[in-house]
Formats: sequence, C-alpha cells, structure tokens
Amino acid sequence: MSDYQIDPEVQRQAARRRTFAIISHPDAGKTTLTEKLLLYGGQVDVAGSVRGRKTQRAATSDWMELEKQRGISVTSTALSFDYEGYRVNLLDTPGHHDFSEDTYRTLMAADCAVMVIDLAKGVETQTEKLFRVCALRKIPVITFVNKVDRPGQEPLGILANLEEKLGIEAIPYNWPVGTGADFRGVVDRDSGVAHLFERGTGQLRLKYDSVPLAELEKSDVDERVREQTLEEWELVNSVAQFDKELFLAGKITPVFFGSALNNYGVEHFLRGFLKLCPAPHARETDHGPIPVDRPEFSGFIFKIQANLDPKHRDRVAFLRICSGKFVREMEIVHPRSGKKLKLPRAHRLFAQDRETMDEGFPGDIIGLVNPGEFQLGDTLCEGKQVNYEALPQFPPEYFATLRCLDTARRKQFGRGMEQLIEEGAIQYFTRPDATRRDPILAAVGELQFDVVRFRLQTEYNTDTAVDFLPYVLARWITGSPEDLANLHIPYTAARVIDRLGNHAVLFHSKWDAEYTIKKHPNIKFSDVSGQGFNIANATAPTPAW
Ligand code: G4P
Repeated sequence: MSDYQIDPEVQRQAARRRTFAIISHPDAGKTTLTEKLLLYGGQVDVAGSVRGRKTQRAATSDWMELEKQRGISVTSTALSFDYEGYRVNLLDTPGHHDFSEDTYRTLMAADCAVMVIDLAKGVETQTEKLFRVCALRKIPVITFVNKVDRPGQEPLGILANLEEKLGIEAIPYNWPVGTGADFRGVVDRDSGVAHLFERGTGQLRLKYDSVPLAELEKSDVDERVREQTLEEWELVNSVAQFDKELFLAGKITPVFFGSALNNYGVEHFLRGFLKLCPAPHARETDHGPIPVDRPEFSGFIFKIQANLDPKHRDRVAFLRICSGKFVREMEIVHPRSGKKLKLPRAHRLFAQDRETMDEGFPGDIIGLVNPGEFQLGDTLCEGKQVNYEALPQFPPEYFATLRCLDTARRKQFGRGMEQLIEEGAIQYFTRPDATRRDPILAAVGELQFDVVRFRLQTEYNTDTAVDFLPYVLARWITGSPEDLANLHIPYTAARVIDRLGNHAVLFHSKWDAEYTIKKHPNIKFSDVSGQGFNIANATAPTPAW
C-alpha cells in the first residue's frame, strides 16, 4: 500500500512512456537509426530533417551560422512518437561535432540508453565516455550493433570487445544470419525464429520470411552461413542468460544486430527495445524517492538553451517530468527560490514547430520559456517541496582563459559570462592561492568555447579571444583537511576550486595524474563532481570576469 493517492491516469500514461537517448561514436549510424525509428513512428517529415541537420552542420564552418544550427538542433531535443501503444520519447544527444556537456546532461533525463556500435570498429572513445556516464547513473544500456551488412568483426568478437572495453556482460538478444555480403537476417532469441530479409527491397517495412531455426535448411540461406549461424547460436545460448534485474542495474547489456541503412533488423530491434526499456520510475530526491504515479507534478531542468528563436531572443529550459501530471498554466513551486510560479508557456518542441503543450506525464520533456528564473538542475514541483539530485559536472578535457578584447566592454563581458555559467554552457575553476581570481574555463569539447565566444559576441556585443592552457584533465579531490593539506602535485599541475566550492587538480598529462593518485592513497580522486543536492548552497569564490 502506498501512503499517497495514486492517480490512475498518471499511472497508465507513465507506464506507456519510454524515454531514452541514443549514444554512439560519430559515424556508427546514430542519425540513420534515429531516422529509421522516426519512420516507423510515422514521423516521415522529421526523419528527413534529422539527416538535413547533420549535412548542414558538417558543411558549416562559419560561426555566424551557429544560431541557425541551434535553431534546428533544438527542435529535436526530444522527438516523440507513438508506436504500438507506447509513447516513445527519443532524447537527442548531439554527436561529435558539438560534443559538449549538454550531451552528458541529456542522459540524466533518460531512463535507458541505446548504444550504437559499428561492427567493424567496435567500442570507440566517445561511446566509451558516454557509457561511463550511464554506468555512473545506473542507466541501463541496450546495444545495437550496426552495419552488419558490411565486412567487420565476427559477432562473437564484438561481444568480447564490449566486455573487455566496458566491463559489461553482453547478452545477444538476436543473432545475425551471416555478416557482410552474406548478411541475410536475424534470429530472434525469444522465439528461436530466423527472420530472413528479402534483399535489395530498400523499403521501410521490409519483406521477410520468418523461419523456425530447425527449418533453416529448407531456406535459401547458403549452407556455410547456415552451419555457422547454428553453431554460434548454440554457443551463445549455452553460456549467456538474460537477467532483467542485472540489465536494469546496468550490469549486462542486451545486444541486437542489424543494419540501420538497409532497415535490416530495425523493426525487430524497436519491438525488442520497447519491451526491455524501463518505463519511468521513482527518482531520488532530498526527501527520498518520488514515485511517478503520485498525483503532484514534479520534474527537473536538465538543459537550458538561449536564442532558440533568433527573432525573439528567448531562453528555453527543458524539463523532464518525473511525477504527476503537467497541465498548462498550472501553479508550481520553485524550491530553490521558494517562489510560486505559473507555467504559462510550455512547449513540446518537435521538428520545426513549437507546439503549445496542454498536458504531460512522467517521462515527457517540456520546453519552458525561461525568463531567467531557472537554472540547470532546478526542481519544479507541486505540493511538498522536493529537490531532485543536482546534475553532476563532467570531466573537462579542454582548459583556457578568455580575454575580453575591448576593455570598455568588460562589464557586459562579466554579465555575459555569469549568464553563460549559470546556463551550464561552460565550467570554470579559480585558483585558491591567486590574488586575482582569474577563472580557468573548462569544457568537455572544444566547441563549447566557440559557443561561448559566439554568444558573447551576438548577445553581449563583446569580442573575446581564447588562450588555451596546457592541462588535459581534471580530478576532483576529497579527503580529510590534513590529507588535502599534504597533497603534493607536480609543478605543472594546478590546484583549483570549482563553482560549487569543490577542490580539484588540473593535470598536464594522464601520467602526472596517475602518479599523483598513486602517491596519495587517502585522497579520493574523482572524474565527476557535484552529485548530491547541494547546488543551491554553492560556496565558491567569485571570479574576476
Ligand atoms: P552518426 O550519426 O553516428 O554519425 O552516423 P550516420 O547515421 O550519419 O552514419 C554514418 C555513415 O554510415 C553514413 O554514410 C551512413 O549512410 C552509413 N551507415 C549507417 N548505417 C549503416 C549500415 O547499416 N550499413 C552501411 N553499410 N552503412 C551505414 P555516409 O556515406 O557518411 O553518409 P551518407 O552519404 O550516407 O549520408
């Protein structure tokens, strides 16, 4: 028995939501798979714009185009569609060209992640980084091994690669019948039926024959391919057992094989995925976990984006609904400021359209036009005031100082930087020992600096220059005051404090970091910081902008 009144509508709607993000290294096929999923969801127009957006991004080098790109990319912050009774919310995580903290933070709003891997290349660096964030937050991961139509590794090799690189057990959910030029279909784990594709149709809903494995020899699959498939199938079935609990705990990953480009296996993947992907579930707050079906609305802001519409120069805060029902113009509390607010302009952002949203349920993403009231990680709720966990800060790899090129505009520069920091566009550190608190800006991708400069220029009319610093990684440190006082770091490293007042060290090389970590076993060195509920009580030194 729960100690609150369950809202049956919320319960029913939440149970059919599936909110997930696709993670991959560039070129593994994320765009293609997204497009195909949208096509199955009947979103044909949008599917075209996913590819269009990518082409445009790749072709654009002029930063004056940045805003235009943003206008497009934001429209697909969450793409939703209905499929066989499910409401699917696909969160967009931009790929390589604009890898930034946004990508990481978006994962915080997902209940599950789909990891796309190229059969030939296996697990690549960016996938690995994103996977680590999923593991940290216990987000279950489902793997789609793509490009099975191209020559690549042996399917058994890719399972070993996943286990070796990510330390996660890989359990095949289907198995390819041949690979490369021999790729003919997939065997479904649950039914033991082989779905053989008709070659060269190139159609959305491919024609396929479904043949029980025992009857595979009656099919036209080449004998060599058939023998190998049966042998491998027997092997993987004898060792690997799927366990839902372990999957939900992020300890195993179900693996699907297919070819997004040719549509081979995509529909079977979508069906299997929807069964596996968890519905929205209780999330942790400073008052314990909040069940999704409690009647009071609550959610948290995981992304803020400015100037979505250059004509209006507005700011949109993206909120993930965690419990209750959202209704337009409802009154909510903003626990950080203690203010009561009415939410008049909530939008669903989809394709090129901004559609006013009248209601929403747990798992849905809404865009709130933000008059500067909201910050990243803020909770909005009805009833009892709660705070969802603060969004973590992620390990930066690029460090720089930013110079204001026109001294007469220093004030605007300062104001702009404060705003951008608040939005989470970039991280900063200050040196505790320096007399001037010149901030060191830090980012997970180089593009974040370009975005900051571009926005300072367009929104605050201030030209700036970036001077890169030779640090390559940051580690947040915790330990007793005595241990921290006795910390010895290489002369090339720097001791710094982040915007929440946490201590960290910036290193010149991985080797320096490893050496320092080994020498100080009592100090905890961590590559992600800011978890917990302390975001509102930050006690960081104020930088001199
Ligand atoms: P990304 O978003 O992860 O960066 O990858 P994207 O989908 O753009 O795919 C990268 C390239 O791989 C594209 O080719 C795409 O057509 C191709 N691709 C995706 N899935 C498959 C597949 O299952 N089989 C094969 N053979 N190729 C696949 P491109 O030439 O770079 O771009 P385009 O000219 O096709 O747009």
